[in-house]
Amino acid sequence: MSTNDPTQTPKRFHVKSFGCQMNVYDSERMGDLLSAEGMTAADSPDDADVVVLNTCHIREKAAEKLYSDIGRLRQPRADGSRPTIVAAGCVAQAEGAEIAVRAPAVDVIVGPLAYHRLPQLLEQARQQRAIDIDMPPVPKFDALPARKVTQASAFLTVQEGCDKFCTFCVVPYTRGPETSRPAADLLREAEGLVARGVKEITLLGQNVNAYHGGLNLAGLIRELAAIDGLARIRYTTSHPRDMDDDLIRAHAEVDKLMPYLHLPVQAGSSRILKAMNRAHTRESYLASLAQLRAARPDIALSGDFIVGFPGETEADFEETLTIVREVRYAAAFSFKYSVRPGTPAATMADQVPEDVKDERLQRLQAVIAEESLAFNRSTIGRRCTVLLERPGRKPGQLIGKTPWLQSAIVSLPGAKIGDLVEVDIVGAMPNSVETVPVSTREGTAA
Ligand code: 5AD
Ligand code: SF4
Repeated sequence: MSTNDPTQTPKRFHVKSFGCQMNVYDSERMGDLLSAEGMTAADSPDDADVVVLNTCHIREKAAEKLYSDIGRLRQPRADGSRPTIVAAGCVAQAEGAEIAVRAPAVDVIVGPLAYHRLPQLLEQARQQRAIDIDMPPVPKFDALPARKVTQASAFLTVQEGCDKFCTFCVVPYTRGPETSRPAADLLREAEGLVARGVKEITLLGQNVNAYHGGLNLAGLIRELAAIDGLARIRYTTSHPRDMDDDLIRAHAEVDKLMPYLHLPVQAGSSRILKAMNRAHTRESYLASLAQLRAARPDIALSGDFIVGFPGETEADFEETLTIVREVRYAAAFSFKYSVRPGTPAATMADQVPEDVKDERLQRLQAVIAEESLAFNRSTIGRRCTVLLERPGRKPGQLIGKTPWLQSAIVSLPGAKIGDLVEVDIVGAMPNSVETVPVSTREGTAA
């Protein structure tokens, strides 16, 4: 069967992202690299000569998506060709050798810390499969070209990896030990983004609030806030253990820092948190939130939850339900515990049966949905800005985010993506809010 023609230089690429926001950032940077090689982005994998699958290994289901995509991509197209297939991301890092055996159609296997070498790997792949799952000491960021973002809101990776070793989690194995990028590099990258029209920057890291690149995270946020033209700063994902006083103070003092915090607790039972090696208890977590709310009373909170961790009893699970009620989360993400080979929890006794996990997940998601709607309702009557990020479904509509990260539909003649529009929140749905632009309401619109 004919495959890609090794004498032809590939011209079009498509990067598909799975998983977390860090992967979205990495996918964008792989796109920048391939563009710098003279390639152009294709909207669909069907039109691409090179398809990069930027994978996620956090749960088993996420990892399986790689193999089903490879199965589709390796089918010859009408002209007998097939794209060069790149397996990137955390599955590539964790299962590189297995991918090579299980999916021989894959041409390049590259881990999340080595993707700056993608052009060379594609070159090598013309001869034979190329694999690079090193965790090189020289950071990839120095080897990447300038960013070409066009969005109003952009990600900026400031810290990568994790040393916390929660017993369920693969991240310390796939993203390596915790490392922070130097603050000076980040300020330069941020200035470049703002020069390209970016209005909002979300600082990314697996443990973003453990950032220590010459400044701590609060210091970095304060420096970024001084950049003219940058309107909003966010950061994610934080660990409760690293929520220090300085960062809490920044929420009170830095106007550009948005009143929203994603602070995963994972479970409501301190007994389960201990088995998870989370280094916080239910009580210490709630105490951090109380401090945050004292500093910034309108702060919206979100979290992650795992149900069915080994040994979780019905009583433990009920503590998860009560913490959701007690915190009044604006949003939350919840998952069934997924066994990850090589992590301590995988071999713990008392694994919870699948049907129990299913049932608990449904009950938890019902409570989370009620709380999100209640949060959205509580914002009715507030006046705030919305950063417009993308077109809406109907003509004349644009979709953006409120300071509390709610999706908001805005209809304002003449408004465009990248604008910050002042609105009143007038209605609440489970996943969005209805707004009226202040200028329309006061009859001053064009
Ligand atoms: N099973 C289920 N969920 C997991 N997460 C991490 N590892 C697992 C696992 N093995 C969840 C956590 C984390 C989020 C990114 O994914 O809630 O915060
Ligand atoms: Fe995984 Fe825990 Fe590190 Fe988060 S803090 S990345 S859950 S090991």
